[in-house]
Amino acid sequence: MTGPPSDEDGLSGMSDGAGLPGPLFDGAGLPGPLSDDGGAPGRFTARGVSPWHRRPSARVRVRPAGCMATASSPSASAAGPHLTTPGLPGPRSDERIHTVPQPAPAREGTDPVFGNGTAHSRDQHSCLAAAYDPVTLPRLAAAGVGPGWHCLEVGAGGGSIARWLAGRVAPGGSVLATDLDPRDLAPGPRLEVAALDVARDPLPEAAYDLVMARLVLQHLPTRDAVLHKLVRALKPGGLLQIDELDASYEPPLLTPDAQAEALYVRFLRAKTAALRAAGGDPQWGRKVPAALRAAGLTAIDVHLHIGVRHARDPGLGLQLNHTRNLRDRLTEQGMTQEDLDSVGRLMRDPSFRAASSVLYSVQGRRPGRGRS
Ligand SMILES: C[S@@+](CC[C@H](N)C(=O)[O-])C[C@H]1O[C@@H](n2cnc3c(N)ncnc32)[C@H](O)[C@@H]1O
Repeated sequence: MTGPPSDEDGLSGMSDGAGLPGPLFDGAGLPGPLSDDGGAPGRFTARGVSPWHRRPSARVRVRPAGCMATASSPSASAAGPHLTTPGLPGPRSDERIHTVPQPAPAREGTDPVFGNGTAHSRDQHSCLAAAYDPVTLPRLAAAGVGPGWHCLEVGAGGGSIARWLAGRVAPGGSVLATDLDPRDLAPGPRLEVAALDVARDPLPEAAYDLVMARLVLQHLPTRDAVLHKLVRALKPGGLLQIDELDASYEPPLLTPDAQAEALYVRFLRAKTAALRAAGGDPQWGRKVPAALRAAGLTAIDVHLHIGVRHARDPGLGLQLNHTRNLRDRLTEQGMTQEDLDSVGRLMRDPSFRAASSVLYSVQGRRPGRGRS
């Protein structure tokens, strides 16, 4: 496996956002919702076979965007399905198939802080892609992700990373994009989509060259257990990339007056309080390097990204999205609708400036012999 030179457990790379590609955010030209005709994904084959793979399995039909993956029968769903594609023949007996678990029925307490399948979620996914793909994707490229890699993404959201990966791993590779609610995802060539609750459902073990998660684990109360599960899903030598925010430093820099500054700070505090109330850790980004090391990974490579929020910045677009997307949670934390409207107007002011939170992009490798 090729990759950038990385100090064992060392820190490397600090970006201030300079040199990032693409125009400033104005909502135009951003990737929209996925289309329904993403192409016919191939079956997902693997070299390693975990005990889990040998269990009797049923088929799951992977539907295009707008539909959840559903099992072919109730009894099949209990057995744990194969992942396959409508209209394609089933697996040959000599093929080893990556299976993904049947998603558990929704249970109380599993309501994610950011739900999918709404106009808000699609806008959020567009902002996430515009703000953070310029950080996430070059990291994956620099690590050598390429032809033949078998990749898993959890909490794939709108699928921008998974789509990029699917283009990158040709020929011979595959990408499985999973999400608790995959309605904003669509399959495509080399790209499978499945519903999967990474906090509850099992994953194939030692199956992937790359496991990717961005802005997912920090929202999960059981993030450490989930991290260990992701590590077990890696082949020996496989790469884990976790991109997460630390929202403890994101001060306002230019506001019209002290009152506006105080309002923005109150909005940020309400947001972090709402995320914590839902079991999240808004500062988890800074803890990811140590968490990866504690989970047994080596060659920990850390990259930090911080930028300036302004009216045409996609990171600020995300903040604006949160005034709508998290409205109920923010009002529970004391923000009124008038406050949210006011902070929205403040953030649209062309003279407004604030520091972004810090995105930590952290890579680690599972010990063992990697790809040659
Ligand atoms: C903030 S969004 C990030 C989306 C995407 N990773 C990105 O960075 O563009 C969080 C995503 O995690 C998903 N999610 C939340 N809880 C999850 C869980 N337990 N298992 C799998 N996905 C989950 C949500 O549905 C949502 O798509």
